[in-house]
Amino acid sequence: MGRVILAWLLGLAFLTTGIFSWLTAPSPLGSASLPQHTANAANGELIYHIGGCISCHKGADATVPSGGEPFKTPIGTFYPPNLTPDAETGIGQWTAAQFVNAVQLGISPKGQHYIPAFPYASYHRMHTEDVLDLFAYLKSLAPGASPTKAPDVPLQWALRPATGIWKRFALHPPIMDDPTQSPAWNRGRYLVTGPGHCGECHTPRNFMMVSDETRALAGAPHPDGKGRVPSLQDLIGRGKYESVDDLADALSLGELGGYDRLASGGMAEVQANIAKLPETDIRAIAEYLASIK
Ligand code: HEC
Ligand code: HEC
Repeated sequence: MGRVILAWLLGLAFLTTGIFSWLTAPSPLGSASLPQHTANAANGELIYHIGGCISCHKGADATVPSGGEPFKTPIGTFYPPNLTPDAETGIGQWTAAQFVNAVQLGISPKGQHYIPAFPYASYHRMHTEDVLDLFAYLKSLAPGASPTKAPDVPLQWALRPATGIWKRFALHPPIMDDPTQSPAWNRGRYLVTGPGHCGECHTPRNFMMVSDETRALAGAPHPDGKGRVPSLQDLIGRGKYESVDDLADALSLGELGGYDRLASGGMAEVQANIAKLPETDIRAIAEYLASIK
């Protein structure tokens, strides 16, 4: 009898492990699935700015994305890695497919899941061509060595596989242009919801920590665990800004232009990155935001 129960328990254990590894297994893209594309590093630089890569991946020199500076989250401290083309500690030896897998699918070259403190659930919405351009831009930077520091996050061994299940719900499909809206509005929506990852802070999450798209940009507790991030809905109707132009000025000038509601909780860095975009893109972001009721 004991043996039967033992065999049954073992069987159950195998089945559970099997289901668990099936549910959590990463499925990276191969090089053959990448689009045919001639990379444009200048567009990559634009994507780098709206993507806010420097905010988390800054090095000892805060203008260089050589990584290693602490990024505190409620689950522990990360030291986001080196994004310069250094062969040993950076992305110098990475292939384009490895980069696309990391940024859009949260899968490392070793086939592990990245923890979504890296906002790839939003980057998943980006056009893969833009990610290839971003790769070309990063490859054009001067390599900067920076010792890789493992994240100080307890329970990583459990968190990484569990992230595989979370991704099944959290990776939103790419956004198609809405033909009833203007090209500027569509551009603004793409920049905000894709590379800009504004919703990572401004959209509330459900019990699974998946962003609740029925309440997009409605304001949320700050992801760093302290305070609240304000709503971006109906900014003009609620009298926060006078017009789309006023909102565009706020995004490009920030606190220096007297707009002090974009100054704290990481928003100053986001605003400084937005300010590096062409005026037409800043205006497109403002036009899209103003339309969210
Ligand atoms: C909000 C912070 C944040 C932002 C913004 C961010 N990252 Fe990261 N990134 C991280 C963290 C944290 C990790 C490590 C995740 C882990 O250990 O699971 C990471 C990891 C990576 C990796 C994997 C590197 C390696 O050596 O394994 C790549 C590539 C990367 N990020 C690229 C980017 C790019 C490109 C951008 C801008 C489009 C960007 N990141 C924006 C936080 C961020
Ligand atoms: C790291 C988290 C974070 C991200 C990412 C983020 N924001 Fe914010 N945002 C904040 C916080 C916090 C504030 C409030 C700042 C303050 O009161 O000083 C804010 C404020 C704002 C405001 C002012 C709202 C008001 O009531 O006047 C605007 C506009 C805004 N953000 C737009 C954006 C856009 C556009 C993006 C994406 C490109 C974005 N934010 C991404 C955290 C974030």
